[in-house]
Amino acid sequence: MEKRKIIVDCDPGIDDSIALAYAAAHPEAFELLAVTTVAGNQTIEKVTRNALDVTALFKLNVPVAAGMVEPIVRELQTASEFHGKNGLGDCTIPRADAEPEKEMAVFYIKKLLTELPEGEKVTLICTAPLTNIGLLLKIYPEVKAKIQEIVLMGGAIAGGNVTASAEFNIYVDPEAARIVFKSGLPIVMCGLDVTEKCALTSSQIQKLSQSQNKIARFCGEMTGYSLANGNKFRGKVSIHDAVPYMYLTHPEIFKVEKVALDVDCSDGVSAGRTIVDFRWWMYEESEENIAVVDVDVAKFQEYLIEAIYELGEKVK
Ligand code: BDR
Ligand code: CA
Repeated sequence: MEKRKIIVDCDPGIDDSIALAYAAAHPEAFELLAVTTVAGNQTIEKVTRNALDVTALFKLNVPVAAGMVEPIVRELQTASEFHGKNGLGDCTIPRADAEPEKEMAVFYIKKLLTELPEGEKVTLICTAPLTNIGLLLKIYPEVKAKIQEIVLMGGAIAGGNVTASAEFNIYVDPEAARIVFKSGLPIVMCGLDVTEKCALTSSQIQKLSQSQNKIARFCGEMTGYSLANGNKFRGKVSIHDAVPYMYLTHPEIFKVEKVALDVDCSDGVSAGRTIVDFRWWMYEESEENIAVVDVDVAKFQEYLIEAIYELGEKVK
């Protein structure tokens, strides 16, 4: 497996945090250059605080830069029903001494990309509304040359979790998503059709929460909150945001298709719905992207749980 330089743009967030634990457990796969935050699951203040605290807990020595306070055009909608008032399922972890970088996320990412050694590229892993990345690509289109690929959690081939047809990350900022989808960059969309299946069961969650391993306990307690609140009728908790990372470490457990992507930017009933066109041959090569369409769920659960315990051993 090639080791990639990555920048993570996220809104931690229960599953964003578990996804960062997965990344921390895989230093052989990921060289994490920065974590940037964007308003989504909670306000920018809360998700940035969480990013600082979670990366410190996971002993990820990484800069954190705070990003956009609200979407490009629309009003911010948060997801506190699923992620709790503090964004971490109301679990408390030690407050880190670290503070965010002085530059805002868009400018910080631009700086990192510009300073990359000649010939090197970065993969962006996006697990939140695409506000920062949309603005980055609009303001500084020249940085596209430094981006290897964007692997994102968002959208769906069919269905939604905010409305009948829209997924949260895309629904919150569809205009930003359109900029990203139309950027000409290679994009891998890990949508709800697959990420919803990538769930921990209530018995797996219970086992994690009762563990002596502090990272397992933290992940178990956060997902336990989700199980008891936002997911109370489902009996399982999807760890959506771990999917883009696992797609990079274990591509063999996923099935993918070539597609072209767009998003409904109207104010109608399907606002924020991703339009996933399987007729890729109708488009220019630069418009072809990838959608993840299926996964081996048992392997996903096995690799995720393994990574959580491994990280706990590493940071104890
Ligand atoms: C996405 O929405 C957020 O609530 C999660 O963190 C994930 O990124 C799932 O629709
Ligand atoms: Ca997220």
